[in-house]
Order: sequence, then structure tokens, then C-alpha cells
Amino acid sequence: PAHPVAQPGSSDFIVVSNRLPVDRVPQEESDDGWRRSPGGLVTALAPVMATREGAWIGWHGAADETLAPFHHGNMDLFPVPLSADEVELYYEGFSNSTLWPLYHDVIATPEFHRTWWDTYQVVNKRFAEAAASAAAPNATVWVQDYQLQLVPQYLRALRPDLRIGFFNHIPFPSPEIFAQMPWRKAILEGLLGADLLGFQRPNDTANFLRSARRFLGAGVKARQVHVNDASGHFSHISRAEPFPISIDVAQIQQLAKNPDVIARAKQIREDLGNPTTVLLGVDRLDYTKGITHRLKAYGELLDDGTVQVEDAALIQVASPSRERVETYKQLREDVEGMVGRINGQHDTIQNTAIRYLHHSYPVEEMVALYLAADVMLVTALRDGMNLVAKEYVAARGDNSGALVLSEFTGAADQLKQALLINPHDIDGLKAAILRAVTLPKAESSRRMRSMRRQILAHDVQRWSEDFLSTLAQKAVRDDS
Ligand code: G6P
Repeated sequence: PAHPVAQPGSSDFIVVSNRLPVDRVPQEESDDGWRRSPGGLVTALAPVMATREGAWIGWHGAADETLAPFHHGNMDLFPVPLSADEVELYYEGFSNSTLWPLYHDVIATPEFHRTWWDTYQVVNKRFAEAAASAAAPNATVWVQDYQLQLVPQYLRALRPDLRIGFFNHIPFPSPEIFAQMPWRKAILEGLLGADLLGFQRPNDTANFLRSARRFLGAGVKARQVHVNDASGHFSHISRAEPFPISIDVAQIQQLAKNPDVIARAKQIREDLGNPTTVLLGVDRLDYTKGITHRLKAYGELLDDGTVQVEDAALIQVASPSRERVETYKQLREDVEGMVGRINGQHDTIQNTAIRYLHHSYPVEEMVALYLAADVMLVTALRDGMNLVAKEYVAARGDNSGALVLSEFTGAADQLKQALLINPHDIDGLKAAILRAVTLPKAESSRRMRSMRRQILAHDVQRWSEDFLSTLAQKAVRDDS
């Protein structure tokens, strides 16, 4: 590479996440063999890292491939290899068939397998070792998300000099649900290796602290956990706080003003036959997103004749995700069956009820879609934050547009002027969609203005500064 990569032991700021910001793809799917990784974590952290000269440790998305560190977009990327077995047991297994459904309030049934847990530990050790060897003395290491909950403890054992932060991008379940986890104590102890634990909502923070108290008998006072070492002696204080994550507001705003993007938005509406109302859903194809609830409600509105295929079109972007996991295969069948049935019944030669796109798109195209959409539908059954809702709001520079938002998303804490819904209540969801379609201009613009004020004042740079300055303070106080 043209740019030399940081030497081992010389990085002062390190992010560790399961995925690197770029994902290995087959040559024929991209020019250089790389593509931006899917999901909210990378959407949020990539802009932060681009301005912070840091090292990023993570998996590059391919099995059985060992890559040398490389430089990309102002970051040093340190790929961690996973074997095909580890992808199956650690990533598809424990991370996405045990933790993911458990932490999203058991919407799908979590599976508990000892071989998955064994591999989770092995892989978490590997990530911790990679961080330990990259870090300069007294460096700050920021570990991300549910795939790596044991890294803080392993890393502290290897490098007690480091300042360790952890941020959980997904919900943390109530102790009543977390209780099911056979290795609940080990996971809590793993997390408590961090000096600072960040969660999306105050509720997630409270759930974690209640679990620490209940399952470890830990001393908890004012969001501070008193952590002992294996021999029962005081080791350190671990703090838990909410830090609701956000988006790169400036980037979205800039794209929303870009003439090419504006022209593309117009084109999208024209290509749909210039309907009066364009509705939009954008999700990873994941069962937590409530896509089938949304389709059911929309299909019934068409059946009832309240919405007409000549007047309205729903664009549903569903980006491919975790495609080898059984629950995801099943969901794809369900969604595609529903779309087929609804379109078969309501489409005309000219008009389509639902334009379903099983693709992921670059951010320019996403912003064009946000500009083209009069109504944004976010109907997640459970979601740590939901950045799509925030991106839609950031893109609506003229204060037009309506956001239908599930109260089960972290974003609902901040976007109180959205049309809030319970996605399980299909009649309520239908009423909210109808309301969004017919919302008087004055009201939609009042709501949008208030939501924009919130988002514009709380971008992802501010989120990272809040977290990292709290982590720094903590360390200062401990040393004194
Ligand atoms: C969510 C998770 C991330 C994850 C992303 C994409 O946003 O919080 O940790 O990276 O989904 O999922 P994937 O399994 O493809 O990494």
C-alpha cells in the first residue's frame, strides 16, 4: 500500500468491532473487491474514525482469509481472520442465533449451544489479542457491540494500562429475559472489564445494571459497578451510561442539497408514474424490523380501498443480511410471498403497489430515496436505535414529509414528534399510515422542524465526543 500502516504497539486510539468498515466481496460485484459493510454500526462509526486517525480492528467479511493490515480512508485497518467454522459457530451461531434474538426480546427463539459458546470465547480472545498488540501504552480502546462482549475483560487482563470503553449498539434485555442465557455471569464479567459501558437508551442501561446486581451480586451505586478480581479483591469501577448514537448529519444534509441527488429523487418519482404519495421502508432484511407487519397493514389499506395503487406507491428496500441463518431465510420467504400476493392482487399494467428491492445501495441513492418519499415507515419490533429514521429527518431540508416510527426503537426517545406506533397493533399502524399520507402541511412541517432541531444538534461526532470524554474523565479520576 502507498501509505504505511501503524506499527504494532503504536496506536493511541483503537476501535474494535466484529466488522471492519469495508467488506470483502467477489471481484465481479465491485471494482476493487471491497464494499461498505452493512448496518448501523459502520454507518455511525466510519465518519467518526475518518476524522480521528485511529486503528480499526475487525473481520473483513470473508472466511479462511488472512490479510495484512492496510490503510483505507484515513484509517489503519487490522483484519482479524475467521475460519469457515468460526463464521458458522461464532458469527452465525452465537452472535446471530443466540445473542441477537435474545437481546431483541426473543422475537425469534434463541438457540443455546455449548460449541457456539466455546467458539465465541476463542474468537473474543483473538480480538482482544489483536487490540493488545496494536495499542500504544495507555491507549484508549473502544470495543463495539454484542459480538465482542468478552473482549473488555480479556483485554484488561492482557493490558491493564489501557482505557477500555464498550458500546452496545443493540438493546440490552431485561434481567427476566437475560436470565435465559446459560453463560450470563461470564458475559456480565466480560463486559465489566470496561471502564465505561455505553448503551443506547436509559432503559438498556438500567437493564444491564439490574442484571449485574442480580446475577453477579455486584455492588451498584449511581450507575457505577464495583468490580472485583478473581480472588475477590477490588479491581476497578465500571460505569454504565446511555449515549444514544446518531448519524453524520452534515454528510446527509450535503447530499440532500446536491443537484444530482435532487434530480435522481425526481427521476425516482417519475419512474413510479408520479404518484401523489411515495412511501418508503429501508431495512436490513431482519425479523426485528417488522417488515411483515408493515406489509400487512399496507396490504389491508389497499384491500379496504383507503389507499389506491394509482395514487400511492410503497418502495421497500430490504438489504440482504445474514443470509445463511435459517430465521433470515424464512423471513425472506415470508416477505417475498407477501409482496408477491399484494402486488398480484393490486398492480395494474401501469402501477405497482410495492416496489420491492432486495439490494443494498450507496448513500447517494439512499438520500435520493429519502427526498423522493413523502412518508417514511419505520416499524421495528425492537431496535437499538434505527439510524434510517434519523437519516430521513436529516435529509428533509424543506421540513416536508412524515415519519411513522415504532415506539420500540431507540430513536423514538429522541424523535417524539414522529407519528409513534405499536407495530403489533395493525389497526393502529394502518391509522397512522393513513394519517401520515393525509397530514396537513402545517402539521407535518411543525413536526419535522422539531425533529430536525433534535437531530441537527446531536450528530454522531457529538455522540463519540460525549462517550470518549466521559471515558477519559473516568480514567483521570481513578488515577487520582
Ligand atoms: C447491526 C449490528 C452491527 C452489525 C450490523 C450488520 O447494526 O448492531 O453489529 O454489524 O447490524 O449486521 P452484520 O451481521 O452483517 O454485521
